[in-house]
Amino acid sequence: MKPSSGLSSVASALLAALVTFGASTAAQTPKDPSGENNTARDQQSYPAPTNLKVLPKQITGKQLHDIMEKWTLSLGVECGACHTNDPGHVGPDGKPSLKFADDSKPMKEVARSMYIMTEGINTNYISKLEGSGMPTTCGTCHRGRISPEPYDPTAQQTKCPPVAPPPDDNSPAPQPANP
Ligand code: HEC
Ligand code: HEC
Repeated sequence: MKPSSGLSSVASALLAALVTFGASTAAQTPKDPSGENNTARDQQSYPAPTNLKVLPKQITGKQLHDIMEKWTLSLGVECGACHTNDPGHVGPDGKPSLKFADDSKPMKEVARSMYIMTEGINTNYISKLEGSGMPTTCGTCHRGRISPEPYDPTAQQTKCPPVAPPPDDNSPAPQPANP
């Protein structure tokens, strides 16, 4: 049986939807395997930021996006943890769009002070260590969680080896627990 004209118009609508979807996905996450000549596309996909107060003002939209992705992963959150919804707009993924330049979420302000703190740790302390090659990042403390895990060193299994007795003590030397 030949497909009816109704069916084929459904098929072409589907095809059109697929093409549009593919195009919008590509626009969101531009990936050029050669890694070159991305600039024009990046400027389209990631508009230059307009409301930076702590990050270097000259960074491109793409550089900013990369930083945001890192923060998001380091804290184990989504963009919406710090950025407020734009109720009027829905993104291509069906989720509400976010008003990135808006400062109404308190978490965004916390993130700004965390950034200044992290930069301060690196500039004033870490970079002054001889041979230091490991700057502090959000992930150094956060490890994928919005609230860093408390760390209790006394809860660790490994105990310090027993202290050797003074020379005039005749009792046998204590044996290490794990020779
Ligand atoms: C932990 C909080 C936090 C998370 C999570 C976060 N952002 Fe941000 N974002 C900020 C802060 C803070 C600024 C402003 C930086 C400044 O003032 O220099 C900002 C700025 C921006 C801007 C620039 C807006 C403008 O025009 O000034 C964009 C775009 C942006 N973020 C996108 C994202 C995206 C996309 C994600 C998710 C992948 C994300 N952000 C996740 C805190 C966050
Ligand atoms: C030196 C360790 C350290 C570094 C580095 C660090 N943070 Fe934090 N951050 C903390 C601690 C500790 C808290 C408080 C957690 C709590 O009270 O539960 C916190 C809290 C936060 C909060 C608030 C969480 C909440 O639930 O209210 C945000 C947002 C945040 N940090 C973002 C960042 C970002 C973004 C960076 C990197 C630019 C960063 N932090 C770097 C230690 C750090």
